[in-house]
Amino acid sequence: MKFFLDTANVDDIRELSAMGLVDGITTNPSLLAKEPAPDREIYEQICALVEGPVSAEVVSTDCDGMVREGRELSKIAPNIIVKCPLIEEGLKAVRVLKEDGIRVNVTLCFSVPQAIFAAKAGAYIVSPFVGRLDDIGTEGMDLISDIRLVFQNYGYETEILVASIRHPLHVIEAARIGADIATLPANVYRSLLKHPLTDIGLQRFLDDHEKAKKAGSKS
Ligand code: G3P
Repeated sequence: MKFFLDTANVDDIRELSAMGLVDGITTNPSLLAKEPAPDREIYEQICALVEGPVSAEVVSTDCDGMVREGRELSKIAPNIIVKCPLIEEGLKAVRVLKEDGIRVNVTLCFSVPQAIFAAKAGAYIVSPFVGRLDDIGTEGMDLISDIRLVFQNYGYETEILVASIRHPLHVIEAARIGADIATLPANVYRSLLKHPLTDIGLQRFLDDHEKAKKAGSKS
């Protein structure tokens, strides 16, 4: 399973990618709006830190505009993946960009038929948003299992990226279902590694080792 970071904060990316376990980055216009630097500068810095795919989203809503933006974004670095919204014009743009050899992450997916359209259009990644479905009282993770099943049924190679993750249970469930990628906000990524019993257990091992050393049975 691949873990991406869902952030445009370069400090978080630098810190969390130092462990060597960040497989890619997703950004979106809302995340970029929180950062003071120009978007292009942020993408350049992120691509210098992370070897895996870095999603950069277009803000046009017509096919020509998305293709123009996508082509420009893809020039920033070879690991840029262009992100287009799951609307009619976005799916048209997927086809054109794919013909150019540019990989596209189709974002804002909220249903199985939308995911099928994204796969048929040639998306490299489709991003269903689980947290936002939970927010309106539907079970976001059900969408992930349904898409997994349907993609298996038809051999679609589009990768399923679970987006809008809010807590570790989303990640555990995504892994059980067999989603290809989970993109995690920095706070969720940090929380995944932690377990109180690990900290307690480590402390006990170290204390016992010290006691044995003081008692003279260890050098
Ligand atoms: O990658 C999309 C994701 O960032 C959306 O998350 O928490 O704004 O629903 P959220």
